Amino acid sequence: MSARAPHAPAPPVAPVATFFLVLCAPGAEAVLAQGAAARGLRRAFSRPGVLTLKAAGPLGPKARLCAPLARFAAPCFGRAGDLVDDVRALARVAEGPVRLHVVDAAATAPSDAHGPAADALRAALVRELGEVVLEDEAPALSDAVVTVVLIDEVPWLTLHRHARGLPPWPGGRPREALLPPEQGGPPSRAWRKLYEVCERFALAPRAGERALEIGAAPGGAALLLLERGLEVVGVDPNEMDARVAEHPRFVHVRTPSTQLSPEQIAGPFQWLLVDVNVPPGTALRGALPFIEAHAATLRAVVFTLKLKRWQLIEELPSWLERLGRAAPRLSFTATSLASHGQELVAVGYARGR
Ligand SMILES: C[S@@+](CC[C@H](N)C(=O)[O-])C[C@H]1O[C@@H](n2cnc3c(N)ncnc32)[C@H](O)[C@@H]1O
Repeated sequence: MSARAPHAPAPPVAPVATFFLVLCAPGAEAVLAQGAAARGLRRAFSRPGVLTLKAAGPLGPKARLCAPLARFAAPCFGRAGDLVDDVRALARVAEGPVRLHVVDAAATAPSDAHGPAADALRAALVRELGEVVLEDEAPALSDAVVTVVLIDEVPWLTLHRHARGLPPWPGGRPREALLPPEQGGPPSRAWRKLYEVCERFALAPRAGERALEIGAAPGGAALLLLERGLEVVGVDPNEMDARVAEHPRFVHVRTPSTQLSPEQIAGPFQWLLVDVNVPPGTALRGALPFIEAHAATLRAVVFTLKLKRWQLIEELPSWLERLGRAAPRLSFTATSLASHGQELVAVGYARGR
C-alpha cells in the first residue's frame, strides 16, 4: 500500500492547529460539545463517535481538552494533503522524531479498532518517513505523537504530547482482541477496563498488594488482579467465574455491600474497586464508607460510574469532590475508556508515587 493519499488532494496541512479532533462513545457527542462550548470551543464537524471543536486561537501540541467523555482528543491540523510531507511538517512542529499512530474512526469495538487498512498505511508511512518516525508506536511520557485519523477513509492529522492519564494506543484503543470467556478469555469486559486504567495511569498492580472490590461478579477485574499476584476480596451476591472463585488468593463475600459495615472486612487494602450496576449517587453512598475506612493505605481507587443518561455528566464534579473527601491522599479524575459502554471511570491515584 502507498503512503500517498489516494483521495482528491486537499490544501497542504497548515502548521497550526486551531481545533481539537475528538473520539468518543457514539451518542456522547452532543453532551461533550455542550461541555466544551462552556469553555469557548465550538462544535464544527460531527458524526457518531467523532467531533471537532474549534478553538478561538491556535493550539500547541501540549494543549489538552478537559472533557471526561473524550476517549481521544488532540490538536488537529485538518485533512492531510500529502501524508508523507505533512507528517514531516508535524515532526518539525514537534522539533524531533514522532510516534506515529493510525486509527480508523469508524471502528467501534476495541478489537476492530485498527484494521488492516490502518495498519498497512502506518507500515507504508514508517518505511517512507525513515528516522522522522520512531519505530515503536508506544509513547513514553512527553513523546510527540502524530495520529492519522481515518474518517471515511480521508486522513486527518493530529499532534499531541503523551502524558499520564492519556491512552498510549492509537485513538485511545488498545490493540489486543480478547477471547470470549467460553474460549478462555476473561469472565467480563471489566478485565479490559481495568487493564486500560492501569496502563493509562501507570498504576501497576504489585504482587502482595490487597484489593477490595464491591460489585465483583463474574470477576473480570478480580482475575486481572489475581493474575498480577494480588489478594482480592470480592463483595457481590452474584456467582463468580470458577477461575476466580477457586483461586487461592480470592475471598468471596457473598453479601451486598449495603448489608455490610466496613469493619466487617479486615484491611489493609491498597486497591479499592467499585463496579455496581446502580446509579452513581447510590453507588457512592454505599461505597464511600469503605473508601473512608481504608483511605490511609489506598494507592488506587477505580470507581465505575454508570450513566443512565449522558447528561448525568453534569454531576461529575460533585461525585469527584465526594471521592476526594473520602480519600484525601489521592487525586481523582474521570475518563471514558475504549471498552466502556455508557459509563465513565473515576480513578484515584497518588500523584508522583
Ligand atoms: C457490572 S457487574 C460487575 C462486574 C465485575 N466488576 C467484573 O469484574 O466482572 C455489577 C455487579 O454489581 C453487583 N452489585 C450491585 N449492587 C451491589 C452491592 N450493593 N454490593 C455488591 N455487589 C453489588 C451485581 O450483583 C453485579 O454482579
